[in-house]
Amino acid sequence: MRLVVLGGNGRTGVHLVDRALARGTPRKLEDVSKAFSGSPKPEAVIVTLNPSRLSDSPFSRPAAPPRFLAHSVANAITAMRQHDVKKLVVMQAMGVGDSRPHMSFWMRWVRRWTYMKHSYDDHDLVDEIVKFSGVSYVLARPPWLTDGKVGPVRTFGNTGKGVGNLATISRRSVTEFLLDACEKSDWDCSTPVIAS
Ligand SMILES: NC(=O)c1ccc[n+]([C@@H]2O[C@H](COP(=O)([O-])OP(=O)(O)OC[C@H]3O[C@@H](n4cnc5c(N)ncnc54)[C@H](OP(=O)(O)O)[C@@H]3O)[C@@H](O)[C@H]2O)c1
Repeated sequence: MRLVVLGGNGRTGVHLVDRALARGTPRKLEDVSKAFSGSPKPEAVIVTLNPSRLSDSPFSRPAAPPRFLAHSVANAITAMRQHDVKKLVVMQAMGVGDSRPHMSFWMRWVRRWTYMKHSYDDHDLVDEIVKFSGVSYVLARPPWLTDGKVGPVRTFGNTGKGVGNLATISRRSVTEFLLDACEKSDWDCSTPVIAS
């Protein structure tokens, strides 16, 4: 079922959205495809999924199934093809794909030796799947996220050379960038590293 929920952040609304989402999962192509049916069709798809963990700590053990991101994004691409939707924008992370060499030493260690390895590996698969899919894409690569306000966003090429070890960006700034990436063609078929 296609639902538009106004007030989804309200005290009843969050439960409503939660339950509605529980009736579908991006891991099932049928559910993803349903979201595309109807009119008007979406013009772009934005993915801000993150594999769930046993606790809020980023170092916590993963709870989502293996390859959750890759599976979900592959479904999105299949549904995009079925419904002729052209643009895919995915929130990934600094350190994914060919930006890995420009991660700080500390983050390279984290990536290699903590449970965060699983989500980086999953993002790497997404990077490959999307690049070979034939859809127009933007794979945004933010570094450490903060809860700050919207601010100017700087880009550091596809691989993040020069972004620095302490780079951060607010979640709100990332969302503005993701929406800009849908509306404009400036970053099409690229993997911009973005930071404040
Ligand atoms: N944290 C950082 O500093 C950082 C830095 C750079 C990049 N990133 C990347 O940014 C992206 C977004 O991160 P975030 O912290 O904004 O994400 P988040 O708050 O953890 O949100 C994750 C989303 O994925 C959904 N999800 C997780 N597991 C699921 C499952 N098994 N089935 C269906 N839905 C599921 C969650 O839905 P439910 O809540 O219903 O499970 C939620 O909507 C991630 O890809 C992450 O790698 C994070």
